[in-house]
Parts: sequence; structure tokens; C-alpha cells
Amino acid sequence: MCGIVGYIGKRDAVPLLLEGLARLEYRGYDSAGVAVTGKSGGIRTVKAKGRVRELEAQVPKRFSGTTGIAHTRWATHGAPSDENAHPHQDTSGDVAVVHNGIIDNAGDLRARLTAEGVGFASETDTEVLAHLIGLSDADTLEGKVREALSRVDGTYGIAVLHAAFPDRIVVARNGSPVVLGLGDNEMFVASDVAALVRHTRQVVTLDDGEMATLQAGSYRTFTTEGSRTASAPTTIEWDAETWDMGGHDTYMHKEIHEQPEAVDRVLRGRIDDRFATVRLGGLGIDNREARAVRRVKIIGCGSAYHAGMIGAQLIEELARIPADAEPASEFRYRNPVVDPDTLYVAVSQSGETYDTLAAVQELKRKGARVLGVVNVVGSAIARETDGGVYVHAGPEVCVVSTKCFTNTAVAFALLALHLGRVRDLSVADGRRIIEGLRRLPEQLSEILKTEEDIRRIAAEFGTARSMMFVGRVRGYPVAREASLKLKEISYIHAEAYPASELKHGPLALIEPEVPSVAIVPNDELLEKNRATLEEIKARSGRILAVGHQDHPIADETIIVPRNEPELDPILLGVPLQLLAYHTALVMGRDIDKPRNLAKSVTVE
Ligand code: AGP
Repeated sequence: MCGIVGYIGKRDAVPLLLEGLARLEYRGYDSAGVAVTGKSGGIRTVKAKGRVRELEAQVPKRFSGTTGIAHTRWATHGAPSDENAHPHQDTSGDVAVVHNGIIDNAGDLRARLTAEGVGFASETDTEVLAHLIGLSDADTLEGKVREALSRVDGTYGIAVLHAAFPDRIVVARNGSPVVLGLGDNEMFVASDVAALVRHTRQVVTLDDGEMATLQAGSYRTFTTEGSRTASAPTTIEWDAETWDMGGHDTYMHKEIHEQPEAVDRVLRGRIDDRFATVRLGGLGIDNREARAVRRVKIIGCGSAYHAGMIGAQLIEELARIPADAEPASEFRYRNPVVDPDTLYVAVSQSGETYDTLAAVQELKRKGARVLGVVNVVGSAIARETDGGVYVHAGPEVCVVSTKCFTNTAVAFALLALHLGRVRDLSVADGRRIIEGLRRLPEQLSEILKTEEDIRRIAAEFGTARSMMFVGRVRGYPVAREASLKLKEISYIHAEAYPASELKHGPLALIEPEVPSVAIVPNDELLEKNRATLEEIKARSGRILAVGHQDHPIADETIIVPRNEPELDPILLGVPLQLLAYHTALVMGRDIDKPRNLAKSVTVE
């Protein structure tokens, strides 16, 4: 996803901007650029296709200034190229804009501007914005930006420089995150706190429809209509080293190994031993409302959707109310019937995924009650929902989700326990689940100690041209997520199926070159799952079983500690995170920044 960074203050902006871009690289991009207002006035820009380090190599020696903006671009309109890299300028060169988002009516505006004689230097939608700002007759930069934004439809997080207003940066947000960093006589702006946290932990998160003016010693926020707003600063709870690799070779490896402490964090302060339930402070619904819920619909994308599948299973098992999960993008486009007795839950690590945010906004428009199960505090989805459960996984930098996926599943266990204990879940069962939750951190540590064996297995299975992942009921979401993980970072094709579905078609794919990973917990379906292993072996399929005991029929078995049956899916997937990691490592893949992917997909 695109990243924006800006600085205004007493220091040279260029090194700060380049460092900020480097902190946003994990979002995925294909080109980058930087612009500063020079001491002699005017705006200078340097842009390059490729990585930030390639941009850095092209920055001239005397390229400096105390006010600047920068950008990493994830191509939406126009291929990756120097010309399409941001910042984009107007014809006069007095305006420079960096933008994260999509201007839906860029085509119409471009045609109109071209007819008026405006020449375009790029294929991007963003350049339209630069020209609109440059052509505005408003006598302030804020007015010029407001006038330009009044003509665009779509999403944006933007930062704007203007040669005639060298003492300020104007920023605006609608659908793409913008965070201000408040320093000592210096101000920062970025798409993500990762680019700010080394310089300040005081931040202001803009809301959709909000703008801000940054000057060296001050900032002010206002709406796109111009009325003042009072967005108060908050303190980032994570310090700078939290964003570092911490001695690991990749963020993914670091985040996989952080899971024991991350799960400890999502449980902390939330267990109520007295009533064998949980305390979810910011849930946003009281016990009477929780008891009145007749159904739960969970929406999310990618790994968040898969965690929601585990959540739906937990809610049905512990609260005995119908629950299901659905991709947020599917949900919002099928004109869903919104039921007042249904509790909707939006799941998102970043809290900025456009498909999920738009689904939440659609639900709110129809009067639905929507909770969020989100990692990033203060994110758009967290602010848009009526309450929810923060998953407290800490910053998750790797594009593929691991610790946040696990923490989200645990957060759903907490929500399911709460919904169960306001209904008919017994004290004994409540205590049983609580004890299981408390065992998770230690059991996760035990699994991580088997990494060397998983690395060996990855080398054995990593040469496959395709892999099949199968599981039943609780095991199926585990299979889905494991299949996604492998695809995302190794680029090996993988599919996940309910094990019972194999015989209805996919079995035709089984052969030695297409190994199967089978999720085989010691639950009430163990015999059924054993039959699946026989089915695969009878077709000469190689098998990796993941379960609670050895399966001699399998070529390899990974054994994980047993917890409570309802909580086992939380543990069964963790070895498969390591399987994907080591498979990708053997293949020399860019693990933290896999091709074509972005950490937070803030566009449709
Ligand atoms: C995670 O492994 C994937 N990169 C992706 O599927 C991600 O889960 C999805 O885009 C949703 O992101 P979110 O949790 O930030 O909403």
C-alpha cells in the first residue's frame, strides 16, 4: 500500500523523509519519491522506480530543505515508473502532492483539464489533484486544497506543499490513514506511526473528512468544509525498538516468536475468575444487550476473515447462537439483509482495510450494531464501530499476519466466553475455557521450540508445485489460513478444502507431487480424519499431519500440545506459519514484503 511521510521544522527534512519511507517499506510498493521546498523558494523533487535505497542514490548532494514530503507508491493507476512515482506537481511546479488512495473520477477530471489545455506528465490519478490545487484561485493553501478536494470522489490521504506557502504542509484524509507526529518545534505526518515513532510518540490521527495545517511549531485541524476540529493528541504505546527486528532476520520470524507474549497481552486484565467469565471493557454492549443477540455475523478479509471463521466456531460452541464469517468484500456487494437482532463483528489487523471499513459503514448506514476486533488502536474501523475488543498483538510489520491472527482468534475466544456466560455456558465450562486460555502462552512456546524439525519438513515438502490443505470443522479455518500463508510468501499454489469435500472432486489432484497437509486434532472427528489420511495415501499422496499424536500413515507428523477442543485451532496453525516461513526461506523469497501484496489494502 502507498505510504506518505512529511516533515516541517528546524532540521533538514531529506534524511528524515528517507528514513520515514524506509519504515513504511513493509507496506509494499514499487516506486518512491521526495519533494522539498528549497531555501531559495520553489519546490524540488526526486522520484525513482524501485526501492527507497535506489531513490536515495539519486538524491543530489545539495538537495535539502526544512519542509518536505515523500511517498512510496503501490501502483493502482499507471505502471511503476519514475514518471508515475509521487510527488506529483502541477504545470507551474509550485505544487507537490503525495497521495494514498484512489480518485474514482480521475478520468473525467483529467479529460476536462486536458480540454482546458493542461498537460499531464504521468498516468496517475494523483496528478489530477496537483493540477486542481495549482489552478485554484483561493488565496490560502488550505483553501486551494479544499477547493480541489471538493471536486474529487474517492479515497485519499494526502500531503501538499506549495512554493508560495513554504511555512506549511497541508494534509487531508478520506479513507486512507493520516497521522500527525507532534515534535519539539517540528511536525511530522505519515500514513502509519511506524514512520514517526523514532521522533515522537505524541500523535493525532485524522478522521475521514478532516484536514490539518502543519507548521514548524504548531498544527491545527479542520474539516474539508473549513470548520475547526479538536482532534486531541494520543500517546503511542509502542516504543521504537518494538518496530525493530529484535535480532531476527525478518519481521515475520520475530512476530511468530512473539506470539507467547502477545497472547499473554490479549488476556491480561480480562479474565474474571470469580464469575468464570471475562471483562471486555470497551465492548460497547452491556450484558442485557449481549444476551439479546440472536446471531453473530463476522466480516473481514484474508487472514482476518480466517480468524473470523475460528471466531464463529467458538461463538457457536460456547454461546450456542448461530454464527458465521464472510469476506467483507462479498458481504458489502451482495446487498445484505441487515437484521437488528444480529451482532456484526468486523475483524481487521490494520483497522484500515477498505473493503472491511466500507462494509462497516454500510452496516452502520442500515442501523446495524457493529463491533470491531482490531489490532491498531484508534484506526478507522476501530473508530467506526460501536465498540469491540482490541487484540493487543503489538505492531505487526510483516505483510503476512501471524501473531495478530493468533491474538485475534484468542480475542474471539474471549468474546465467545462472554456471550456464553451471559447465557447457558456453565461455570465449570467457563473455568475450563479460562484454564485453557491461560495455558496458551506456554504451549505456544513449546511449539516454537520444534522449529528446527519444521524447518527440516519444509525442506522436504518445499519442492511441491502445489499443496492441498484439509481439515474438518474446527480444522478447516486452520487449513484455510495455512494455505494462504504458504501462497503469500512462497508463491507455491495451495488450496484448502473441508476434508470431507476431497472425495467430491479435489481428490483428482492428489499425486506424489501434490502433498497434503491434514489438520488432525484428537477431537470427536479423529476417526473421520484418519479416514481422510487413508484416502490420500491410497492415491500415493504424500501427507504432513498436524495433530496431537503420531500418525504412522503420514509421511511426517507435527505434534502440538492439546488444549481444550474449542481452543485447539489456535495452536494447530502455528507450526504451519513456520512451515510457510521456512519453505519461503529455502526458495529465497522476500518474506516480509512478498510480491504484489500490501500489509494494509486501503483501496478496493
Ligand atoms: C495477511 O496475511 C494478508 N496479507 C491479508 O490477507 C490481510 O489479512 C488482509 O488484507 C486483511 O488485512 P487487515 O487484517 O489489516 O484488515
